[in-house]
Amino acid sequence: MNTLEAIAARRSIRRFKDTPVPDEMIHTVLRAAIQAPSGKNRQPWRFVVVREDKRDDMVRIMREGIDRVEELGHGLGSSRWTAKIMAHAPVTIFVFNDAQEHTPGNLMWDEPGDVVDVQSIGAAIQNILLAAQEIGLGTLWIGDVFYAYDRIIEWLGEGHQMIAAVSIGYPDEQPGPRPRKAFDEVVRWLD
Ligand SMILES: Cc1cc2nc3c(=O)[nH]c(=O)nc-3n(C[C@H](O)[C@H](O)[C@H](O)COP(=O)(O)O)c2cc1C
Repeated sequence: MNTLEAIAARRSIRRFKDTPVPDEMIHTVLRAAIQAPSGKNRQPWRFVVVREDKRDDMVRIMREGIDRVEELGHGLGSSRWTAKIMAHAPVTIFVFNDAQEHTPGNLMWDEPGDVVDVQSIGAAIQNILLAAQEIGLGTLWIGDVFYAYDRIIEWLGEGHQMIAAVSIGYPDEQPGPRPRKAFDEVVRWLD
């Protein structure tokens, strides 16, 4: 599979098989992640891998965070649904920004770090998605972890800003392509 084929074939996967994912495959996708470009080659990404033995704890923490947000009267978006997906993914990788300290007490993600660092980390996450695609794994890039931002950071013992999570496993669905805006709607050629 070449790069363009992997880009075209990748989908967000929200149903995973129970089959465990070997650590070596997680090494492969993380090695792809750390080959991403980064502003000033700062490589601000940090990854915490949560495997099945800690999955129940992860989902409990995520749900506690979501409950807290709900008690405070905030909207929950798709977060409960996402927590359910995470509960079935053999692996979830949490992604942190090494260049930004986490301020304890932050309920949700508020301050975007340096925009260049966040772009670099986005590139690393995309590499995870494409490398996983290449080796037959499905992925879901997750922003809903922000609903449990503070709780997750505390649970993982992290001092840095959380950027996202990626759930990974063997796909148990084959979704078709999701709609995209028309090319001409998003691209303007300057002439
Ligand atoms: C930054 C980011 C955050 C996302 N967060 C979530 C999430 O929390 N839950 C979820 O189910 N999907 C999440 N997604 C997946 C998007 O919904 C998905 O990429 C989009 O609908 C297009 O579908 P496709 O990835 O299959 O092309 C996220 C994607 C990105 C890039």
